[in-house]
Amino acid sequence: MRKKIVAGNWKMNKNLQEGIALAQELNEKLTADKPACGVVICTPFIHLASVAGIIDKSIIGLGAENCADKEKGAYTGEVSAEMVKSTGADYVILGHSERRAYYGETPEILKEKVNLALANGLKVIFCIGEVLEEREAGKQNEVVKAQIEGSLFDLTTEQYANVILAYEPVWAIGTGKTATAEQAEEIHAFIRGVIAEKFGAQAAEDTTILYGGSCKPSNARELFAKPNVDGGLIGGAALKADDFKGIIDAWK
Ligand code: 13P
Repeated sequence: MRKKIVAGNWKMNKNLQEGIALAQELNEKLTADKPACGVVICTPFIHLASVAGIIDKSIIGLGAENCADKEKGAYTGEVSAEMVKSTGADYVILGHSERRAYYGETPEILKEKVNLALANGLKVIFCIGEVLEEREAGKQNEVVKAQIEGSLFDLTTEQYANVILAYEPVWAIGTGKTATAEQAEEIHAFIRGVIAEKFGAQAAEDTTILYGGSCKPSNARELFAKPNVDGGLIGGAALKADDFKGIIDAWK
């Protein structure tokens, strides 16, 4: 059966001390009251090694929010997949809409990142999602399909088994405007169909597809109740341990 996951994306928030404090608080809460789903926190690079030493990795997985599209060498300021893995992290978010929109990450660049992440033993949380104009024009399915095709369709089924998908409609990110549970279910089912066509029915059935975009304790339960919604990728609400745990507890 596919894994249910609630993952946090801290984005560019929390200095090192604040990040350590948040990880400690979350670790305490989740060791005292064990989650009924997989939990992952994805932090800025600078937090990874410290947070890896704090969390109980049998309860909380650790991930980065990005990695380089090059293996190593003279790429000043970049952080490679191998470096991420060496901190103790096991996941990396790739293809977030903020990286696509603000840092020009194309499907081709993301394909390189995905390949390097998987080659270095990281699981990839691969984000897809349409902008508002695309949704209004009814193009959301074709947009997410092209994003998947452009970066993941060269993978083998074996490689693909280490990919988690996150559907994040850009119009719902940080806006307080959540997709309805019905909208999420409809497109998640479509995405699973795209995966089935390429990687087969079993791979599609096993794929965890997260919803992201203004997910909070108050709406998580309704979203997660849908058969094709396997959890959430959480931004703002992952920055407070109580809110994040409130979403995790939606699986109970
Ligand atoms: P918010 O939960 O803040 O809307 O962010 C969602 C997101 O982008 C997670 O990657």
